[in-house]
Amino acid sequence: MEENALHNTGQRAAKAHGDVDNPLYSTLSILIVTDARGVIQSANTAASDLLGYTQEEMRGQPLSILGTANQPLNLQSLEELVRAASHREVSLQTQSGALVPVLLSSSGIYDGAKLTGIVCVALDISRNKMLESQLVQSEKMASIGQLAAGVAHEINNPMGFIYSNLGTLSGYIEDLSQLLRKYETLEKSVQKGKLDMASSNLSALTAEKERIDLAYLMEDIGDLITESLDGANRVRKIVLNLKEFSHVGRAEKMPSDLNSGLESTLNIVSNELKYKTTIEKELGDIPLVPCFMQEINQVFMNLLVNAGQAITDQGTIHIRTYREEDWICVRVTDSGKGMSPEVQKRIFEPFFTTKRVGEGTGLGLSMAYQIIVEKHGGQLLVESTEGQGTTFTVRLPLHG
Ligand SMILES: Nc1ncnc2c1ncn2[C@@H]1O[C@H](COP(=O)(O)OP(=O)(O)OP(=O)(O)O)[C@@H](O)[C@H]1O
Ligand SMILES: [Mg+2]
Repeated sequence: MEENALHNTGQRAAKAHGDVDNPLYSTLSILIVTDARGVIQSANTAASDLLGYTQEEMRGQPLSILGTANQPLNLQSLEELVRAASHREVSLQTQSGALVPVLLSSSGIYDGAKLTGIVCVALDISRNKMLESQLVQSEKMASIGQLAAGVAHEINNPMGFIYSNLGTLSGYIEDLSQLLRKYETLEKSVQKGKLDMASSNLSALTAEKERIDLAYLMEDIGDLITESLDGANRVRKIVLNLKEFSHVGRAEKMPSDLNSGLESTLNIVSNELKYKTTIEKELGDIPLVPCFMQEINQVFMNLLVNAGQAITDQGTIHIRTYREEDWICVRVTDSGKGMSPEVQKRIFEPFFTTKRVGEGTGLGLSMAYQIIVEKHGGQLLVESTEGQGTTFTVRLPLHG
């Protein structure tokens, strides 16, 4: 029923053009046909609905009014449009100046060898784009949740022994004040010259010293304080790392130290990694890189968590940073289970996962790709051998 209604709308539009027999005009895809000079000859209703022009307004206009040159497919270039058979993601400009993301393909229409026109087919993907950005957001929330669980554990452990040490210390202070009171009584009797009393007070003081085992108590106080300071310092470091990790996104790229980004990310994920992996670091002497550090940290986290998940028993994760001409590179190599060539081909696809339901959403690497390649003009490379391990290399341009 609904299909019929849509079909009929298309038919009506086609009728207006006198193209009623042309089945292409009843499609939901945007369809625009130009002559050999790129002047629009006809457009379907989907095109006029999306672009805000009437079909009549579009006719006679150059195709170039629909978009700029600066795109994966140059809408200003007839040569490119003639050959653009595969779908490209471009933005079309509507009559009001708004940009709509579409998947566009186009090709030349020939009469023998002579070009007589160009046909463009496009699909509105603005809704998919919106859903995609919502998903990226929810993936971020999910990884923050995962992170929070790890961080809670890391903080809880030192907080547990700091709390217990403070309890013990408070008992010790009670013992020491008892002793001090006995000492004061002795002091007073000595001052007053009451030697008999002083002698019995001294015995009481000695007995109290033995009761509380002063030598052990003094030693233990030192240990408890050192241990608690150490724990408090660990908590402080975690909180500092967390602050650095979650740096509220800045609007501009800032010169950043990738080594310290890696260190703070490692501290955060170490809880997940420490039981089954040995981490080897080979951090080179690299210059600051202009980037959105918070997002790069998120990529590091995804790569490290993936590496950890690929190791089933015991293994190593080797992290190396170095400069290669005008690129700063970060290599994460794991000795995990590796990937088959079929899996490798698909890892950057959103939702592609080989993990069980609930274990992975399959968004980690597609987000990493978006951040490194699309947002930073960098590269994200993978080498993997099944049963041996995997290396991911992030390359960021030094003059990004
Ligand atoms: N280091 C690695 N070793 C082996 N396989 C890997 C490695 N990293 C990624 N993969 C493969 O790539 C797939 C996609 O990875 P991605 O990080 O995008 O998603 P995920 O880890 O499955 O889920 P999510 O990251 O959303 O929790 C994984 O399911 C896994 O099959
Ligand atoms: Mg992952």
